[in-house]
Amino acid sequence: MPDTSKHLLLVEDEPALRTVLAEQLTDRGYEVDEAESGEAALARLADFAYDAVVTDLRMPGVGGNAVLEAAVQRYPDIVVIVVTGYGTVKDAVDAIKRGATDFVSKPFQIDELTHALQVALEQRRLKSENAYLRAQLDARHRIEGIVGRSPAMKKLFQLLETVAPTNSTILITGETGTGKEVVARAIHHNSPRRAQRFVALNCSAIPEALLEAELFGHVKGAFTGAIGNRQGRLEQAHKGTLFLDEVGTMSVGLQTKLLRVLQEREFERIGDPNTIKVDVRVIAATNSDLRRMVAAGDFREDLFYRLNVIPVTLPPLRDRKDDVPLLVQHFLDKLGSDSRSPVMVSQRAMRALMAYSWPGNVRQLENAIERAVAFGGGRGQIEFDDLPPEIASVPSSPSTSDLSLPDEGMDLAELVSSIERDLIARALERTAGNKGQAARLLRLKRTTLVEKIKRLHR
Ligand SMILES: Nc1ncnc2c1ncn2[C@@H]1O[C@H](COP(=O)(O)OP(=O)(O)OP(=O)(O)O)[C@@H](O)[C@H]1O
Ligand SMILES: [Mg+2]
Repeated sequence: MPDTSKHLLLVEDEPALRTVLAEQLTDRGYEVDEAESGEAALARLADFAYDAVVTDLRMPGVGGNAVLEAAVQRYPDIVVIVVTGYGTVKDAVDAIKRGATDFVSKPFQIDELTHALQVALEQRRLKSENAYLRAQLDARHRIEGIVGRSPAMKKLFQLLETVAPTNSTILITGETGTGKEVVARAIHHNSPRRAQRFVALNCSAIPEALLEAELFGHVKGAFTGAIGNRQGRLEQAHKGTLFLDEVGTMSVGLQTKLLRVLQEREFERIGDPNTIKVDVRVIAATNSDLRRMVAAGDFREDLFYRLNVIPVTLPPLRDRKDDVPLLVQHFLDKLGSDSRSPVMVSQRAMRALMAYSWPGNVRQLENAIERAVAFGGGRGQIEFDDLPPEIASVPSSPSTSDLSLPDEGMDLAELVSSIERDLIARALERTAGNKGQAARLLRLKRTTLVEKIKRLHR
């Protein structure tokens, strides 16, 4: 059953007041999450696209204003109601200026709060401009088309700024679709070599027999089919950057030849005794575990160390889901330039996007948004139902409405275990028994899943 209730984050440091408010709001149909401090609120906002936030203004540590700012920064469409102390009109005005939708002053009746919420949620218009988010996209949060502001991505930007201007060889690792090629190009464009060529060679896309000629070039008659002299990618990349994509697929024979280039910066064209000197910066990328390949004897250890001078690891999207809203906006902007496509995403759709595990990472997200725009065309907003089925079928929070509480009571622990058992079984079934994948599907650590399986079958 689709989840249509409004998700609300209640931030209040006073336990008694928080509990009462949470109960009253729940009674009125809201799905309420409680945060006992500003810090806790920030953590929750990073993980979940709430429809509304009700926050106390005065709290020790991180205060309500910081919560407000984090909420509207991340979700331009969110409703934030601040709770101010009695008679502090200035605070209220200030909060509104910072983007709060409305305020209520203590002490207040619950109806006052729910009325404010209702009005705000009803009036929540499509802010077609998203000025804030777009401004953020402009400069600080990307380098040449790399979008992200999660801690992992910020670290990556720092690393790139440091290493891009150097000549060091870089090895980029990451799952498919995490942006390895984007990063390689960004490094080139932020290096002194930017005026020269960026030459890419996908080692897995070219048959082994041709790869060597592709890399080193050949002279006429060097082998059957070598009709003329031909420059290889190495020569083409002279003074520039050579990007060796999927380097893990290279044969051991060719690995040896590549090693020499990296050590001596020289090589010969096939069929030509003359040695050619080149000045290239090499960036390699792979989605295989080269260390494991080294251990298995499939990848030369010395080449691995020559390539892995500066390791750059791209985290999978599921480990930085706070980048999802920004990436979504980025892709909408990209698509929107040529049509009247939707410019907003409903909070419910955003929740599903953030809850999904993205095995295909950023590329899959980009495709999902493109598809959703095609489906939701002209409506101005992407809805939950516009999302591809594999994403929309992950409920962001399951409905409990078809569970009944019998008059005679029930064993809650037993019910929860049985739900757990059932979902774990289904996850294992879907992943053909692969515990790692099943754990990812359930957003558990693998070790946690293994423990649960043991416990539930005792
Ligand atoms: N951080 C990012 N910001 C914006 N776009 C991104 C980002 N990461 C990836 N993309 C986009 O996702 C798509 C896939 O990126 P890319 O081709 O660089 O991935 P990859 O890691 O090389 O994948 P594969 O291993 O399958 O070759 C591209 O369209 C790229 O523009
Ligand atoms: Mg790639």
